Amino acid sequence: MTEMDPWDAARLGTAACCSGHRIALETETACAGADGCNAVTVLLHEMAESLGAAIDAKDPCTREHSEEVAVVAEMLALALGVGHDLARVVHVAGHLHDIGKIGLPDAVLRKPGALTAEEWELVRRHPVMGHDILQPVGCLRVSGVPRMVLHHHERWDGRGYPHGLAGPRIPLGARIIAVADSLSAMLQPRSYRAPLPFVEAAAEVRRCAGAQFDPRVVDGFAAAEARVAAYFAGRAAALPPVAAQDRESAPPGGRSAAGDAA
Ligand SMILES: [Fe+2]
Ligand SMILES: [Fe+2]
Repeated sequence: MTEMDPWDAARLGTAACCSGHRIALETETACAGADGCNAVTVLLHEMAESLGAAIDAKDPCTREHSEEVAVVAEMLALALGVGHDLARVVHVAGHLHDIGKIGLPDAVLRKPGALTAEEWELVRRHPVMGHDILQPVGCLRVSGVPRMVLHHHERWDGRGYPHGLAGPRIPLGARIIAVADSLSAMLQPRSYRAPLPFVEAAAEVRRCAGAQFDPRVVDGFAAAEARVAAYFAGRAAALPPVAAQDRESAPPGGRSAAGDAA
């Protein structure tokens, strides 16, 4: 089964389902026939949510980070006008974006203090490991989820990883997740700083438009900013404080606050 970028799928209006036939992506009800595709979609989301929570539990630096990325990425996708079905694909990819960290040694993932250059090289492999973990799942593959995971640390200016893709060569879903990932990271505590106030994190996202982030996605963020702010404000009130004891001082060479996501 070949992989299809979901934005290509949107243009075509259909994509190959995991059972090999064609399903409509435009409406959920079109997928709710005797083949049970709708149930598969619900199950996929629940599995993605569960796996994302498992990764977050493995990393003491994060608190429901994958959930935040999933929700905010979906908000940004909707603000960009991609439609509800494709926004849900981005949501699922958000839950799974760091699934490759399951392949990192706990000694690295849970290391207090700064990582060595060699350890950072290991951390930088997690998008490839995540892609390889998800690629065998046909329903994810035809939706483009593994490619979104593979490229969620690429930068608009080509200075990201793992492939150094630039501009529109980066899948749009990955460009959306990059902004959501960075926002969530900046709004969580780090050992070297308190959580940034939302207005500062938002200003940092705008500052990085055209460098780290796709300017079009940053425009989408601006359109959705009030909703995103309300979401994070609600979470800050609901979640218990986390002791800052993380290993992410700064990678070799340093980085901006928007580069805190790993
Ligand atoms: Fe979810
Ligand atoms: Fe990541």
